[in-house]
Amino acid sequence: MAWHAVAKAEDVAEGTVRAASAAGIMLALYRIDGAFYATSDVCTHAFALLSDGYLDGDCIECPIHQALFHVPTGEVRSEPASVPLKTYPIRLEGDTLMVEIAED
Ligand code: FES
Repeated sequence: MAWHAVAKAEDVAEGTVRAASAAGIMLALYRIDGAFYATSDVCTHAFALLSDGYLDGDCIECPIHQALFHVPTGEVRSEPASVPLKTYPIRLEGDTLMVEIAED
């Protein structure tokens, strides 16, 4: 496992999602009620970027078929997706957001 710098905290505004990448992984970064979260940016149903989706409270809605995922846990809250979203540990180091990704 290794920590990767992915963005500045100021780049992820409260109540928003934005795309990032680290170690070849496409990530979606979120700030919800002051807390940061990181998930895979790719929907588990088909290919869509969740960073293009709609953040509704602590859930992200896929922009293609409107599956709903719970951001902190990755669990599916609404079909058509059935596979949970991968989540990644995230922490703030100074003003830099760091995400932990397993090394292959
Ligand atoms: S691609 Fe996300 S719900 Fe279908």
